[in-house]
Amino acid sequence: MSSTPVLPDGWRLVALESVGSTNDEAARLADAGAPEGTVVWAREQTGGRGRRGRAWASPVGNLYTSTILRPDCPAARAAELGFVSALAVADIVPSDRAVRVKWPNDVLVDGGKVAGILLESAIAQTGVVQHVIAGIGINVGFAPQLPEMRYPGAALGGSVEAALEAFTAALAQRLAEWRREGFEAVRAHWLAKAGPLGTEVDVKLGDELVRGRFGGVDHEGALLLETSSGPRRIVSGELLGRAA
Ligand code: BTN
Repeated sequence: MSSTPVLPDGWRLVALESVGSTNDEAARLADAGAPEGTVVWAREQTGGRGRRGRAWASPVGNLYTSTILRPDCPAARAAELGFVSALAVADIVPSDRAVRVKWPNDVLVDGGKVAGILLESAIAQTGVVQHVIAGIGINVGFAPQLPEMRYPGAALGGSVEAALEAFTAALAQRLAEWRREGFEAVRAHWLAKAGPLGTEVDVKLGDELVRGRFGGVDHEGALLLETSSGPRRIVSGELLGRAA
């Protein structure tokens, strides 16, 4: 497919050849009042950003897109949209590939990272979310190997346009589900695609490395870990390896 991607009803595409970061462009549009469903898509990014201050290599050939969301929820619930976005990515993986979500919001295909999600929120003084930028990078044409990756990358194949169309359709559906049924439904779907409970995992918390058994995620999306010194609830960290 090389025609202009078709977006869900009421959504709007801002297509760019090249930009620093689609998240920055989407935030600029959101600050200027652009509505939910505004999708910024660039063929390449010259300053693509990942989580934890990392760069996200963004040459032509993969999908780089940021969607403006206006969830109208308290700031504490904004992170739920990371799970919503991860499920939307998982939804577009062909059924003959093994897909798994990994806390907090990575998606693995055949054991390799296929997508990264960077959520950035603007919070009003009232504590309500003004907007969330859901920035998604999906490996479509190739899988870059980044030095910090502890497992290989994977790519979806197909065209970037087809991936954008499928992803935005899936995101619109998963968002509707989240609004209709709440985080509990999203959490259940996410857990069904996560690694098995009880799998031994390592979690990096700053300089600390915590080892334990994967106990799922709680009602707020925090990671639950059974460690040798008892249960731990982890709000922010990095799960290492392929498991869970
Ligand atoms: C991660 O570290 O796993 C998250 C990577 C997120 C990359 C995407 S690409 C589109 C959007 N624009 C950015 O600068 N980052 C996100």
